[in-house]
Amino acid sequence: MTTLVTSGTGKTGRRVADRLTALGLPVRIGSRSSTPPFDWADRSTWPAALDGVSAVYLAYYPDLAFPGAYDDIKAFTDLAVRNGVRRIVLLSGRGEPEAQASEVPVQESGAEWTIVRCSWFMQNFSEDFLLEPMREGVIALPAADVPEPFVDVDDIADVAAAALSQDGHTGKLYELTGPRLLTFARAAEELSQATGRKISFVRVTPEEYVAAAVAHGLPQAEAESLSAMFTEILDGRNANVSHGVQQALGRPARDFADFARANAHVWKL
Ligand SMILES: NC(=O)c1ccc[n+]([C@@H]2O[C@H](COP(=O)([O-])OP(=O)(O)OC[C@H]3O[C@@H](n4cnc5c(N)ncnc54)[C@H](OP(=O)(O)O)[C@@H]3O)[C@@H](O)[C@H]2O)c1
Repeated sequence: MTTLVTSGTGKTGRRVADRLTALGLPVRIGSRSSTPPFDWADRSTWPAALDGVSAVYLAYYPDLAFPGAYDDIKAFTDLAVRNGVRRIVLLSGRGEPEAQASEVPVQESGAEWTIVRCSWFMQNFSEDFLLEPMREGVIALPAADVPEPFVDVDDIADVAAAALSQDGHTGKLYELTGPRLLTFARAAEELSQATGRKISFVRVTPEEYVAAAVAHGLPQAEAESLSAMFTEILDGRNANVSHGVQQALGRPARDFADFARANAHVWKL
C-alpha cells in the first residue's frame, strides 16, 4: 500500500509525505535524489519508482503548464495504472489551460482521481524563486495590478493527504485558494509589516523579467516559459476566491497574514 510522492522533497510533496508518514502509511519519495531515483526526463527510472505502489501524489516538475508535461503525465499515468496504482492525486494550476489539459489523462486513467487545482503558492515567497528577492527587499514580476488569492502550501498538503488516505474525495476537482485577494503590491505591504523591513513590488515587462532571470542563471527557455505563465495567470482571470479547502476539509483556508507572520524569521537578513 505504498504511496509514491513525486517531487517528494519539494514544497508540496515534502509536506504530503510528512502527513502520510505521520498516519503510519508507507511512502516512497520520487525525485532525482531519491532511492530509487525518479526523473521525469528519464522514463527508464519510472518502473522502479512505481514498483509495489498503490497510490501516487503527482506533482510535475518543472511545471504542469510547460511544454512536454502533457505527454509525460499521460505516459506516466498509463504506466502507473498498468502497474497496479489505484489512486492518483494530481497537483494542477488554476487558470492555466496547459496545466488543465494534463488533468484529462488522470481523469481518464481508470484510477480513483482527485485534482487539486491551485492558485499561486504563498511559499513561493519563502521557499522558492522569490526567497532571495524577498531578502533583497524587491519583488520584480511581470504581474498586472490585479489581485491573486495566494494559497498556503500546508492547506494543499492537507487536502492531498486527505484525498490519498481517506474515502470521499474520488472524482473531486478542488480549486484551492487562500481566503483573500491581494495584489502583489498589497502582499509586499503585508510582508513588510510582518518582517519589519521595507519590501517593494516592482512591475517589470516580460522582457525585463526574462533578462533578469537569465542573469541569475535560469535557462532562457525556462525563463521565457515562466514569464509567459505569470503574464497569463496574473491577467485578472484568477482574481476570485474559491472554496476548495473548505469543501475538502470542512475548515477555512489559511490567510496570507498568518503565513507572513509565521515565516518572518525566514526573511531575516
Ligand atoms: N508555485 C506555484 O505557485 C504553483 C501554483 C499551482 C501549481 N503549481 C504546480 O506545482 C508543481 C510543482 O510542485 P512543488 O512546487 O511542490 O515542487 P517544487 O517545490 O518545485 O519541488 C521540486 C521537486 O521536484 C524534484 N525534481 C526536480 N527535477 C526533477 C526531475 N527532472 N524529475 C523528477 N523530480 C524532479 C525535486 O527533487 P530533486 O531535486 O531530488 O529531483 C523536488 O522534490 C508544478 O507542476 C506546478 O505546475 C505551482
